[in-house]
Amino acid sequence: MKRSSVHIMHLLSSLAYLTSTRIFAEATTSTDCKCQPSQSCWPDSHAWSRLNITTNGALLKTIPPGIVCYPGPAYDKIACEQFNELSSNEGWISSNPYYVMNPGWNGNPCPPTNGTEATPDSTCGPLLGEPVYVINATSANQIEAGVKFAKQYNIRLVIKNTGHEFLGRSSGAHSLSIWTHNMRETTFTDNFKPHNCPKAIAHSAVTVGAGMQWKDLVTAAHGHGKLVVSGGNPTVGCIGGYLQGGGHSPIGNKYGMAVDQVLEFNLVTPAGKYITANECENSDYFWALRGGGGSTFGVVTSATLRTYPTEEINMVVQMFNMTSNDTDVMWDFLGYVHSELPRITNAGMMGYSFIYNDESQKVGWAAAFITVGGSIENATKILQPLYDETATSKYKDHIIYSQDNYTFPNYLSYFLVFFPEATTTTNAVLPSRLLDEQALTVDPAYFSATLKKMWSPFVGAYLGHIIGGPGVAQYKDVDMALNPAWRRTVDHFIAASGWDTPVQREPVLNYAHNILEYNLRKLAPETGQYLNEALYGSDNWQANNWGTNYPRLFAFKNKVDPDGVLYCFNCVGSEQWVEGENGSLCRASWA
Ligand SMILES: Cc1cc2nc3c(=O)[nH]c(=O)nc-3n(C[C@H](O)[C@H](O)[C@H](O)COP(=O)(O)OP(=O)(O)OC[C@H]3O[C@@H](n4cnc5c(N)ncnc54)[C@H](O)[C@@H]3O)c2cc1C
Ligand SMILES: *[C@@H]1O[C@H](CO)[C@@H](O)[C@H](O)[C@H]1NC(C)=O
Ligand SMILES: *[C@@H]1O[C@H](CO)[C@@H](O)[C@H](O)[C@H]1NC(C)=O
Ligand SMILES: *[C@@H]1O[C@H](CO)[C@@H](O)[C@H](O)[C@H]1NC(C)=O
Ligand SMILES: *[C@@H]1O[C@H](CO)[C@@H](O)[C@H](O)[C@H]1NC(C)=O
Ligand SMILES: *[C@@H]1O[C@H](CO)[C@@H](O)[C@H](O)[C@H]1NC(C)=O
Ligand SMILES: *[C@@H]1O[C@H](CO)[C@@H](O)[C@H](O)[C@H]1NC(C)=O
Ligand SMILES: *[C@@H]1O[C@H](CO)[C@@H](O)[C@H](O)[C@H]1NC(C)=O
Ligand SMILES: *[C@@H]1O[C@H](CO)[C@@H](O)[C@H](O)[C@H]1NC(C)=O
Repeated sequence: MKRSSVHIMHLLSSLAYLTSTRIFAEATTSTDCKCQPSQSCWPDSHAWSRLNITTNGALLKTIPPGIVCYPGPAYDKIACEQFNELSSNEGWISSNPYYVMNPGWNGNPCPPTNGTEATPDSTCGPLLGEPVYVINATSANQIEAGVKFAKQYNIRLVIKNTGHEFLGRSSGAHSLSIWTHNMRETTFTDNFKPHNCPKAIAHSAVTVGAGMQWKDLVTAAHGHGKLVVSGGNPTVGCIGGYLQGGGHSPIGNKYGMAVDQVLEFNLVTPAGKYITANECENSDYFWALRGGGGSTFGVVTSATLRTYPTEEINMVVQMFNMTSNDTDVMWDFLGYVHSELPRITNAGMMGYSFIYNDESQKVGWAAAFITVGGSIENATKILQPLYDETATSKYKDHIIYSQDNYTFPNYLSYFLVFFPEATTTTNAVLPSRLLDEQALTVDPAYFSATLKKMWSPFVGAYLGHIIGGPGVAQYKDVDMALNPAWRRTVDHFIAASGWDTPVQREPVLNYAHNILEYNLRKLAPETGQYLNEALYGSDNWQANNWGTNYPRLFAFKNKVDPDGVLYCFNCVGSEQWVEGENGSLCRASWA
């Protein structure tokens, strides 16, 4: 399953008492489980009608988009063919209330069939993976009503923003979903001061509604002569799971992580209360929401992010390809290239790298490095040692390189060219590691041997996010929930794989777990991983996602959400819950 469609342009302690694997539920008593539609605890139609009235008619009953491919009155060949295309279209998924990018983790009930009517025995449902009802939210009041309803009736609550989540966290069986896509207001100001916070220094900033997506916000900021520290994708949401999980940015090595830009959040708590959180007010929420992960501490309705004057972006795209058949020489060279990354990021450059198989199935390296406000000449000077190295006896006659240069007058023009709207890779599997200077430089031969050992048809590509460095380290003394390992990260490295058909799922996951995650961790045992781009079923995910911040996060979660109103897979506190194969969600027997 070569996933050659994965493309650089489109990417992208041990706490012994906690268990990391997803165990299916042993039957527990029903009061310990979230209510399901087949049960008497499920609200009747009058209760749902009342919720619809409280939310001003914003309640939608789920119609699975895939139903057009399944036997029954809704079957429609043309619509089914269209769904095949749409189901991997990032823009369509974002603006659909029901569908998400990686439905497979929740037992995708009706996958696309491309026009062919599904076999009679395959029914579209039960709706594992998709909510039963959705609130098409446009205001905090509607969200308060939804949270209180889910709490009162003990119903699983999920939040969907864009549905980009890699681990299926924005959908869930037998749930009520809050869909934030239509909350799109933005307010720019030159001197934002957090509410009730006399000690704060005013900053140029933008307050952003929960549904905004990066392409729209980068464009709006440009209209004000500003840039925002954005994600590297047009349709990822600005302040949902991306931001609350940390949010890495193509310009991170100048400005820091996206989460370093937050001045204030507004949110509805798991108790259904609308509050403001900043460094002076509800500062415990402010701490947790900056890196603790989405769908855990509340439903964020808006956030205020710093803005900066826009800058010229200069980019060089380099490629190194093999000209001989000696693959070992190339892996050796890639060990050398990685050992150079700390020097390159310390010189102020940042970017994305891509290790792929070229047309002749030979290993190659491509990287797109940018400078913010620097020049092509300086960038070339910084990269020159890599080019010189290819002329040394070791690599001569084996490796050729190229460099292309691009100047963008502002951040928006770079963003639009480099991050076009694309089709997405569904069922992505992302074993990954935050690589620090030590991992990259101490033993390049070991590093290179590890890359070589892991490379197999199970791997689509190695994706390097070289967006850490001094720009991210500058915030190391700010106390927030973000995994502290980010502050010394140079390269967030993903060995990207994926599965296309259900039979591939187990072999791919096994390889990702036993070979890829295992070996990546040996490269950097002391760091961690990025919770938004980590392996489904990752070992010891608590310490790897949050490091030493986990115990404080766990305690805070149980304080503000003792009933587990918000739950998501491998999220803070989720080890206290067990998902069943029929979509049940029950308290773990020990919790
Ligand atoms: C193509 C692609 C490119 C990517 N590029 C980057 C990148 O450059 N940098 C980076 O850091 N990450 C990147 N990611 C990963 C991204 O951070 C995650 O997919 C993230 O979960 C997306 O957040 P979302 O809100 O858009 O998506 P959703 O799937 O809607 O939500 C993700 C999670 O956040 C929760 N959530 C959503 N909205 C809220 C809210 N308002 N309040 C509380 N919880 C909420 C959801 O319940 C879910 O648990 C990329 C992902 C994809 C698919
Ligand atoms: C789902 O499975 C769990 C255990 O796996 C069981 O306790 C529960 O009763 C089941 N729910 C339904 C609605 O069948
Ligand atoms: C909610 O109310 C609106 C407006 O009255 C209606 O169109 C919609 O169908 C209702 N939703 C449900 C789930 O009944
Ligand atoms: C879907 O069907 C169309 C028309 O039969 C075909 O051209 C296309 O290749 C199919 N796509 C996939 C992904 O199977
Ligand atoms: C959701 O609400 C918005 C704003 O009220 C509306 O424009 C949109 O059509 C609604 N979407 C759906 C799927 O009902
Ligand atoms: C590499 O191997 C291929 C296939 O065996 C062969 O055709 C080609 O000549 C070789 N190239 C070099 C540079 O040795
Ligand atoms: C390297 O290989 C890639 C992929 O096959 C190709 O697009 C590119 O032109 C090659 N570059 C050089 C310098 O040979
Ligand atoms: C190039 O880098 C030097 C040293 O870092 C710096 O002083 C100079 O301003 C840079 N030049 C340009 C054109 O960016
Ligand atoms: C890119 O810029 C460098 C430095 O100015 C220059 O040496 C090189 O020729 C340029 N490459 C291309 C393809 O223009």
